[in-house]
Amino acid sequence: MKRKLARFAENETFPHVFQPKMFPPQDHELKGRWHERFFKNNHPIVLELGCGRGEYTVNLAEKFPEKNFIGVDWKGARLWRGAKTSHENKMPNVAFLRIMIQNIGYFFSKDEVNEIWITFPDPQPQQSRERKRLTSPRFLNLYRQFLAPGGVIHLKTDNKPLFDYTLEVISETNSRKIYSTDDLYHSDADNEILGIKTTYEKMFLEQGLKICYLKFILNG
Ligand SMILES: C[S@@+](CC[C@H](N)C(=O)[O-])C[C@H]1O[C@@H](n2cnc3c(N)ncnc32)[C@H](O)[C@@H]1O
Repeated sequence: MKRKLARFAENETFPHVFQPKMFPPQDHELKGRWHERFFKNNHPIVLELGCGRGEYTVNLAEKFPEKNFIGVDWKGARLWRGAKTSHENKMPNVAFLRIMIQNIGYFFSKDEVNEIWITFPDPQPQQSRERKRLTSPRFLNLYRQFLAPGGVIHLKTDNKPLFDYTLEVISETNSRKIYSTDDLYHSDADNEILGIKTTYEKMFLEQGLKICYLKFILNG
């Protein structure tokens, strides 16, 4: 608990960590202004949703300095890890946003985001929790509000039912699948980018689980 509190406190000191208190809910001052007010460039913006410790955010930001990356998660003590690393490495193209993703519409405006990564989201297997799945029609509708035309969504998961569910949602919502595999590391898609491994992915691989990967465009 002490360590968690220390991380929360350090998050408050990072200029690239945003943890807005929004009661009542309202548009954030950065909505529609991330380029102008924070990144100070016009580079494409990429989100990692449910980023945990932000492995994709930090690794992709290192590989692609000409893009901006924002890791989004509710859990401050996890997100602290990526925030600390990107702060220590003075990475100008990284930010973290500590919010419930249900509220993401208050933070990004039409066409402001160019790409989304959803990395090992909680599968929420009970039917009663379908609305909480980050690839449910409810969430895809939220992303549609700010994802630019042609903007790609990547999903990595160990959870085959969630993978199959997402494929179904895509076909039912008229979205366009670009690529899918239920065994990434034995597929032709395995590459340096898809091979970035998050904390949860390492755990699942140790358990011998296969990794599913899906790339799609909303209503393409
Ligand atoms: C299973 S963990 C995966 C974390 C990380 N992507 C990884 O692969 O190691 C799922 C993460 O999603 C976050 N999360 C799930 N639903 C969320 C929501 N609605 N809003 C914000 N964060 C959420 C959790 O806090 C958690 O850190």
